[in-house]
Amino acid sequence: MVSPTLLFFFLLAVQLLQPFHAHSGPAEWPLSPPSLFHHRHHHTHRASVRDYGATGDGMTYDTRAIQAAVDAVAARGGGRVRFPPGNYLTATILLRSGVVLEVEKGARVLGGTKQEDYLPEQPRWYVVLAEDAEDVGITGGGEINGQGGAFVQRRDKRKNVMVSWNATGACEGDECRPRLVGFVGCRNVRLWDIRLIEPAYWCLHLVRSENIWIEDVTILGDFDSPNNDGIDVEDSNNTVITRCHIDTGDDAICPKSSTGPVRNLTATDCWIRTKSSAIKLGSASTFDFTGFRFDNITIVDSHRGLGLQIRDGGNVSDITFSNINIRTRYYDPSWWGRAEPIYVTTCPRDPTSRVGSISDLRFINISAVSENGVFLSGSRGGLVSNLKFLNVNLTFQRWTQYSDGLFDYRPGCQEMVHHRTAGLMMEHISGIEMENVRMKWHNNSLKGWNNPIEFRPSTVNKLSFCDWSSEEI
Ligand SMILES: *[C@@H]1O[C@H](CO)[C@@H](O)[C@H](O)[C@H]1NC(C)=O
Ligand SMILES: *[C@@H]1O[C@H](CO)[C@@H](O)[C@H](O)[C@H]1NC(C)=O
Ligand SMILES: *[C@@H]1O[C@H](CO)[C@@H](O)[C@H](O)[C@H]1NC(C)=O
Ligand SMILES: *[C@@H]1O[C@H](CO)[C@@H](O)[C@H](O)[C@H]1NC(C)=O
Ligand SMILES: *[C@@H]1O[C@H](CO)[C@@H](O)[C@H](O)[C@H]1NC(C)=O
Ligand SMILES: *[C@@H]1O[C@H](CO)[C@@H](O)[C@H](O)[C@H]1NC(C)=O
Ligand SMILES: *[C@@H]1O[C@H](CO)[C@@H](O)[C@H](O)[C@H]1NC(C)=O
Ligand SMILES: *[C@@H]1O[C@H](CO)[C@@H](O)[C@H](O)[C@H]1NC(C)=O
Repeated sequence: MVSPTLLFFFLLAVQLLQPFHAHSGPAEWPLSPPSLFHHRHHHTHRASVRDYGATGDGMTYDTRAIQAAVDAVAARGGGRVRFPPGNYLTATILLRSGVVLEVEKGARVLGGTKQEDYLPEQPRWYVVLAEDAEDVGITGGGEINGQGGAFVQRRDKRKNVMVSWNATGACEGDECRPRLVGFVGCRNVRLWDIRLIEPAYWCLHLVRSENIWIEDVTILGDFDSPNNDGIDVEDSNNTVITRCHIDTGDDAICPKSSTGPVRNLTATDCWIRTKSSAIKLGSASTFDFTGFRFDNITIVDSHRGLGLQIRDGGNVSDITFSNINIRTRYYDPSWWGRAEPIYVTTCPRDPTSRVGSISDLRFINISAVSENGVFLSGSRGGLVSNLKFLNVNLTFQRWTQYSDGLFDYRPGCQEMVHHRTAGLMMEHISGIEMENVRMKWHNNSLKGWNNPIEFRPSTVNKLSFCDWSSEEI
């Protein structure tokens, strides 16, 4: 007998596989939803948090009922924990192996806004947290909401000032507040058809995990709040992100490496708006990044489009960006980013940092309209090598009133350096191949710009241009 749940997974999987194969390009690792969940967890048990006493009234803490439902389903070998329509205020929920949270349409899980709602250790501050678990997921069409508005100490159109729980000594600085959803040390993770709303800090954090499938996830942060990242893929392997909609203040899809490498990440069919980088590798970059594919992504009114911010000695290789539409503009300079559609940098963060390198990057079928040029900057000992641009349209135009004329090396390095604006700036590069690349300049926007292409002398080698043009329009 095939259980209805298994059948459902199988049908869903077949639907997913088609678009995935249609544009993911080069060889993929063996990863698809059916292989994600281990046969050991049958996913047949179902429980409603209401049956465990949850009120769903949005005012009473339902933590105990929710956790009891999760633990009961886990104890029976796995299944679904349902949240019927309602508002479920909760302290941290610990997700267990084999359990999928099904937050139904009309249901909202509301994260607590008090420090006592979270575990004592700051690295475990999440509204929903899975640790060392396997075959875990979240779905259902509803919403997990971090009530980020309650963490805004002072609203500021430039950048909000956020509450910090640093007074207790749990952490330092101003990045001291809870994330929304975390999978730490997990295997076989699926999030699909779920809305992740208003995180107080980062939204979805995948840490030291592998085999991750994220599909049809909507992330809405606060466009004015700092560190409101979308998806942070940290020290994790084999991740697929597809059909996501991310509209948030800080970096939208952000692979980072702190304790191990990041291997095999594919992101396709996404829409992104952010006041920082739409896609950003780094800046935490102690280990390597390899085998990434970004395809069919629309980036709207963001501060930076495709960014590599390598600062800590990790090496980056084999990364492809294809079929990407980018629109980048200036925002307040307190945010990292200077309207660059493409930004590739390897400078060491500070004088004690190691230098990483970047090689084998491909930009294929890219169309960008931007207020600043492309910035490609290796560093001494941290070369950027073997870049290919194929079918790339770059249109330069100014439409905001923010001032320009700065190269942005942040974080660390030389910080901001005054300079006139070029269409393409290069330093410490070995090997660029450009084929069918068109630069277009709006004639009413040329103030402050100088050359289409600019080099730092004697640091650029092996250039090949084929069918390249630059014209005023
Ligand atoms: C990454 O994908 C490749 C195939 O594309 C596979 O050979 C390799 O094992 C994967 N890496 C990891 C760490 O799973
Ligand atoms: C604590 O957070 C506040 C507010 O974000 C910040 O201004 C302050 O510098 C932080 N203090 C410490 C000791 O980190
Ligand atoms: C990712 O793959 C690399 C290379 O195989 C391995 O060293 C690392 O431990 C893997 N990370 C995880 C979280 O599985
Ligand atoms: C690209 O992604 C969008 C969603 O952002 C989707 O609607 C569209 O069908 C995708 N295009 C292709 C060619 O698959
Ligand atoms: C990056 O590459 C350099 C040169 O091959 C090497 O010395 C360094 O160890 C690599 N970094 C990492 C994190 O493996
Ligand atoms: C780039 O676009 C062309 C024309 O639309 C298409 O034939 C080609 O497959 C695309 N390349 C990639 C890598 O998607
Ligand atoms: C670049 O512009 C040309 C001419 O307008 C157009 O034919 C081509 O499809 C564009 N390429 C991309 C990748 O948008
Ligand atoms: C810009 O180009 C348009 C169309 O060619 C022309 O009519 C206009 O006078 C130009 N404007 C400037 C400021 O050169």
